[in-house]
Amino acid sequence: MTEMQSVRSCLAILLAAGEGTRMKSQRPKVLHEVGGRPLLGHALAALAEAGADSVVVVVGPDRPEVAQAAQSLLPGVQIALQNERRGTAHAALAAREALARGYDDVIIAFADTPLVRSETFGMLRAALAEGAAVAALGFEARDPTGYGRFVLRESSLDAIVEHKDATPEQRAITLCNAGLMALDGRQALSLLEAIGNANAQAEFYLTDAVAVARSRGLAMRALEAPESEVQGVNDRIQLASAEAEFQRRKRLSVMAGGATLTAPETVFFSHDTQIGRDVLIEPHVVFGPGVSVADGAVIHAFSHLEGAEVGPAATVGPYGRLRPGARLAEKAKVGNFVEIKSAEIGAGAKVSHLTYIGDATVGADANIGAGTITCNYDGFFKYRTTIGAGAFVGSNSSLVAPVTIGAGAIVGSGSVVTEDVAADALALGRGRQIAKEGWAKGFREAALARKAAAQKP
Ligand code: UD1
Ligand code: CA
Repeated sequence: MTEMQSVRSCLAILLAAGEGTRMKSQRPKVLHEVGGRPLLGHALAALAEAGADSVVVVVGPDRPEVAQAAQSLLPGVQIALQNERRGTAHAALAAREALARGYDDVIIAFADTPLVRSETFGMLRAALAEGAAVAALGFEARDPTGYGRFVLRESSLDAIVEHKDATPEQRAITLCNAGLMALDGRQALSLLEAIGNANAQAEFYLTDAVAVARSRGLAMRALEAPESEVQGVNDRIQLASAEAEFQRRKRLSVMAGGATLTAPETVFFSHDTQIGRDVLIEPHVVFGPGVSVADGAVIHAFSHLEGAEVGPAATVGPYGRLRPGARLAEKAKVGNFVEIKSAEIGAGAKVSHLTYIGDATVGADANIGAGTITCNYDGFFKYRTTIGAGAFVGSNSSLVAPVTIGAGAIVGSGSVVTEDVAADALALGRGRQIAKEGWAKGFREAALARKAAAQKP
């Protein structure tokens, strides 16, 4: 936060009362996710980071989930109801009470525009601090159809004209309105109240705050952002486009933080993924929410991680799967086709191949052989498996929880372990091998003789 932001008070109004019909979804549009976080959450996070002291989310009448989600995404957020959709200025006025409290800065933003950076909100606030009554954000549109156009006069903003109300000359303008806006808090309520609805859609346009301010001789500022930052989400195609932009940014920030991505465009992060320095991430890795990877760790190709902690210099994969509650200590190794869930894998422990470890603790330097399964579920309840430090579990063992394997113990390959194993003991839970000398030879000779007899005419 800059000095200016900490001194000036700020109210943010986030408009989320739209119908979102083009998503063709049961779920409200602003609760669809980018980087594993609802669109609404992205906007709220950026506003909070830009120093908003109060945030009001304007919701429609028939979508209680949106209000609920807003409150859990940003505790302390206020909700205002817009009962009828009568335009963006009308929506902003749903926050009338908050506006009347009086703030230095008022930001009005859209909940379906998830990629606006807090720095950009900060830039709009800075324009207010420098004396503008209205600061609007524009972008150069590849295809301006449908957007409001910035009409400039002598390089200052004269008006914003909605596409439907624009003349053919105005429609040729490619500098378009991103939608979000900042208003001087002392004048915001009066500017919004002066906006009428004499336009093609008979709606109260927030964009008309510019013309109102102009008529009052107030100062205006037009700022610009890249189109990729202000892109909105109206349908699933734009949702995918926002996801792509989010991933592009996240990859850049992970690499800037000192991690190597062999093929960045094939790695997918969550909004909260934390990656340390000198981490190597090979191609085709997916991070769900809640993952942190410490310095020097390696995530080999085709791994999937969520809700997991990877310790320093630990390795995962190829084809590793870490589910919620997986915690790998320093230099632990989780190899190919291994699934870990709610389990701690101790420092230097190895779970190298084809294994399921769930609801378990694996001690430091333990070695879990290929094909080991913790049988943690009886169809009703889950039970824990505890494996001591330095224990060695032979391949293809079933550890039937609740069960404890002591430190330094050895479990013979192929064992079904149902009882606790003492430290440093050997456990064998399998049929004893018997050997019958010459049996195979006798079996073969008898079989060949029977076959020959059957083939005689
Ligand atoms: C708006 C801008 C337009 C800009 C475009 C950028 C206005 C009048 N126009 O147009 O200049 O180029 O965004 O994408 O502001 N909303 C409500 N209640 C309402 C109406 C809208 O909450 O009554 C919310 C919607 O949920 C949405 C946002 O406001 O998040 C924008 O509304 P929308 O109807 O999409 O505006 P546009 O016509 O796209
Ligand atoms: Ca829109």
